[in-house]
Amino acid sequence: MRAKGKNILVTGISRGLGRAMAEEFIRLGHAVLGCGRSADEIARLQKQFGPPHDFAVVDVANDGQVATWAKRMLKSHGAPDLVLNNAGLINRNAPLWEISAREFSGVVDVNLKGTANVIRHFVPAMVKRKKGVIVNFSSGWGRSTAAEVAPYCATKWAIEGLTQALAQELPPGMAAVPLNPGIINTRMLQSCFGGSASGYPTAEEWAKIAVPFLLKLGASDNGRPLTVPVRGAND
Ligand SMILES: NC(=O)c1ccc[n+]([C@@H]2O[C@H](COP(=O)([O-])OP(=O)(O)OC[C@H]3O[C@@H](n4cnc5c(N)ncnc54)[C@H](OP(=O)(O)O)[C@@H]3O)[C@@H](O)[C@H]2O)c1
Repeated sequence: MRAKGKNILVTGISRGLGRAMAEEFIRLGHAVLGCGRSADEIARLQKQFGPPHDFAVVDVANDGQVATWAKRMLKSHGAPDLVLNNAGLINRNAPLWEISAREFSGVVDVNLKGTANVIRHFVPAMVKRKKGVIVNFSSGWGRSTAAEVAPYCATKWAIEGLTQALAQELPPGMAAVPLNPGIINTRMLQSCFGGSASGYPTAEEWAKIAVPFLLKLGASDNGRPLTVPVRGAND
């Protein structure tokens, strides 16, 4: 089923930027296909927004779960017009040598391998149509660094490289973009900034600027590292 607007795939939809983007895309008449791990939140979204929107419990770090989800979404909605690899994790603030192997792997598995899993299973259908934009969520910390978030920085620098390489592989007409969303008061920001997170825009305020910005992306943006034009994003 193709809605009047675009088909937009969003990972990490249960809260934060993913949730706020989904609600704004829906308000503007687009169909949102989203995933997250929190079953309660996914059920709430499914109840609030029926078809053509679709919300699924999927762990992007699990390639098999992403494959099953992609098969179902491609069959019901066709290839997405816009893929937003937004799902992400940050390590708890600590020097690198105090981060356990398990925690380090968790951050890599979601931020980096999760993004590759989604690309592996959704992008072939987009390449077939020679149409569509893939946005991989990077960070200011994908272009600079800070103490106590080394695993997160490593994955976001990797996202910048992975996305640039992907941009060189896509056929003309498509685009892959690494995106720094700016600094937004979400649960992730509260984890690394503590109380000072409250001085930053809410996800809902951010989405009012980010969503029109994302909808304008096209082939001419292929390979360009972009930043959502919000306050503080270029600090
Ligand atoms: N907030 C900022 O200032 C900021 C700055 C730079 C970059 N970013 C990037 O923006 C993106 C969104 O961040 P946020 O601030 O909105 O974070 P958030 O509030 O912590 O939300 C993260 C979202 O990702 C989902 N998620 C985490 N692991 C997942 C998995 N394995 N599979 C599927 N979904 C998963 C979470 O849902 P479940 O727990 O339900 O799975 C949640 O919906 C991230 O990529 C982050 O690195 C944010």
